[in-house]
Amino acid sequence: MDLDVYVKDRAAAIRTGKALLWDMQVGSDGVTACASCHYQAGADGRDKNQLAQGRDGRWDSGHALNQQLTTTTRFPFTKFASVNDPFSAKKWNYNEIVCSQGVLAMTYIAITNTAVDAGTVRPGEASSSGGINIRQVTGRNAPSVINAIFNDRNFWDGRPHNEFDGVNPFGNCDVNARVYENIDAVTGQATPLRIAIANASLASQAVGPVNSDVEMAHGGRDFAAVGKKFLALQPLGLQKVSTTDSILGSLANPTSNGLDTTFGPLISAALQPKWISGVNKFSVAAGRVVPDLAGGPLSNATTPVQGQELLLGLGFVYPAEFMPMTDAINSAYDIGYYNIGIRPTLDDLGIGGNDPFGVPLSYAKRIQLGILIDDNRLFDNFIYPDSRLAIEDAFKTPMLRNVALTGPYMHNGGYDTE
Ligand code: HEC
Repeated sequence: MDLDVYVKDRAAAIRTGKALLWDMQVGSDGVTACASCHYQAGADGRDKNQLAQGRDGRWDSGHALNQQLTTTTRFPFTKFASVNDPFSAKKWNYNEIVCSQGVLAMTYIAITNTAVDAGTVRPGEASSSGGINIRQVTGRNAPSVINAIFNDRNFWDGRPHNEFDGVNPFGNCDVNARVYENIDAVTGQATPLRIAIANASLASQAVGPVNSDVEMAHGGRDFAAVGKKFLALQPLGLQKVSTTDSILGSLANPTSNGLDTTFGPLISAALQPKWISGVNKFSVAAGRVVPDLAGGPLSNATTPVQGQELLLGLGFVYPAEFMPMTDAINSAYDIGYYNIGIRPTLDDLGIGGNDPFGVPLSYAKRIQLGILIDDNRLFDNFIYPDSRLAIEDAFKTPMLRNVALTGPYMHNGGYDTE
């Protein structure tokens, strides 16, 4: 990956990234950071309001909304009478999910020059317990972010694409995603460009939660608002930063909160100037950031030239292969994603599901359908229309580093010991 096309100074980019991951001001409520859900060895160690109803919409485990997980919570969520015999009777069996609490169900109105965005409670939708609105919860357990840079595709179901389009998690599936590049020395006008940065699933992932109305934002907030909000705020302005922090220590304010700088200099130290120096004013239309282009309509400059160049000369990987299943029939599956029988298939299809464009998440299925659109993937194992796939209810195998600290385990958080 030619990162230098985008990043001017990697150390500066790491500083900016670390500040953003920990900053509570990223959340519309001025409290929720990425790190709220990724605090303990990169995973979520909280134990109140961390349970979601499963597929049946019921509370089978004896818990309810906003409750505390306790030492008497009965893990694992599926308990066999004989631990070594999956065909023995089930002593109990819950489809609840130990997950992560996010934000209240709100609709975005505006940024406010403070950490808290203006918004209204979404009537009828807010989760409520005893008459009090409570934070919504995610549908899966939060894995550790540590070393997530090495994941070919992130999330339990691989939905943040390996190639990053610069805008959202959907990579080449979003044919309308554009970044803006200032290559006109005379006018300084930025022009739209379609990109696909390979092996950048972590970047595809990181742009997801920020404006998710469950995880961090009032519904309807966009990145133009987030950017503008941050230019007015002190990085980590609500939090004390240790002067001994390995990355941010030298910037930490020794007597008060936050960093002794603003986001403007942090960002301009990190990125190549052409991505941030355009003179255009930007506005938001139909949920997308669009520049007011002096030079003509958007369609004038939308060839994905640079993206294609970036993809040349990459190390190609094989995304899928065949393997005999327990019935000895060879089946195609996505390497690294396995159905190990944690829950019944229909509870959660995992990588067997589709993205918001209706495209299968599974590479094996995309190869079978002839729509493998991640250009840096190669495959020599042709998957025929009648080949059997083993993709439903299959989830990414997580890393085991620090596993003792990252419980509970599996996509449903149904196991409390490693
Ligand atoms: C409300 C809680 C919450 C917040 C806030 C949150 N995450 Fe997560 N994160 C999760 C959950 C839950 C998952 C698993 C989702 C899935 O696989 O479907 C996850 C998954 C991830 C993964 C994938 C790790 C892996 O092994 O696949 C990364 C990386 C990550 N988050 C980074 C971030 C970043 C960066 C932010 C901030 C921009 C963020 N998260 C904000 C809950 C959260």
